[in-house]
Amino acid sequence: MQENRLLTLKGRDVIHVRDFTKEEIDRLLELTDEFDQMCRKGRKSKIAEGKILATLFYSPSTRTQFAFQAAMARLGGSNIGWAGTAGTSHEKGEDYSDGVRMMEKFADLIAIRHPQENATQTAADVVGVPVINCGDGDNQHPTQCFLEVYAIKKLRGEIKGFNVSVMGDLLHMRVAHSLVYGLAMYNANTILVSPKELMLPEEITKELKEKYNAKIQLMELDEAIAASDVLYIMPMMEYRFKGEEKAMFEQFKNVYHISLDTLKKAGAKQDLLILAPLPRLDELARDIDNTRHQGYFKMYEYAVPSKMAVLASILGLTE
Ligand code: CP
Repeated sequence: MQENRLLTLKGRDVIHVRDFTKEEIDRLLELTDEFDQMCRKGRKSKIAEGKILATLFYSPSTRTQFAFQAAMARLGGSNIGWAGTAGTSHEKGEDYSDGVRMMEKFADLIAIRHPQENATQTAADVVGVPVINCGDGDNQHPTQCFLEVYAIKKLRGEIKGFNVSVMGDLLHMRVAHSLVYGLAMYNANTILVSPKELMLPEEITKELKEKYNAKIQLMELDEAIAASDVLYIMPMMEYRFKGEEKAMFEQFKNVYHISLDTLKKAGAKQDLLILAPLPRLDELARDIDNTRHQGYFKMYEYAVPSKMAVLASILGLTE
């Protein structure tokens, strides 16, 4: 524990879950706990006083964007940035990398969401302040993974050895591409549930097995529900299906819809925890909302402390 307290992420970019060791993520989870306690007790922090976070969101977000902004405010710092490029000089033709280079001059760190894969790495390559990937195309959403690992441990008390089913569009959803690394690092058993056309990219499965000795199984819906300690269900997002893939969206848009009836018929465990990245589309019936299975709103109680942990660590404020 003492050694862990000395771990620092000062100055680091947060681009991909694989860039972090389990010990580094452990430290973030420990800090999340500390910030959660602080916020629940109504105590304020000033550790980021004078620091500025730029949130540059080139595509839509509710949870990530505002959790980061609230986290910076709760640390005593300030926020600048945009949600959509209207009103910025991108409208006059300024290109992406010039835009982020300019924001570097005004901020101590930059959080970016962008529709293109690797856009946040591109930003990290041209700016001298830390860059946080808040979702880059179909690629990664690492801080969502940190939150989800924390939420599983907090809401179920454990993650190691748990059966965690990840269900939906595993091909396109960056939240899945991040979470599976967290599950592998924390020795959960990963169960993948999707139509074969929307399976997790092979290069990810290969890396998880080779690098982390991950336990990964494929299952059908009912079998997975019965086996699961945690069920992670993602919405089918139409905008992720491009060009010729659009027919696939029509084919699979209603493929999973989990309700209390589905859980009962499949023989779900009494203490099954259901998590979801949200927004909710048709994947989750509202009759689960007021049951003990519901973790998809509860999880976001920890979103601000989790983002505070990331911000404080990479600003070097936790040493
Ligand atoms: N989970 C998540 O990334 O939500 P937002 O798209 O609302 O940020």
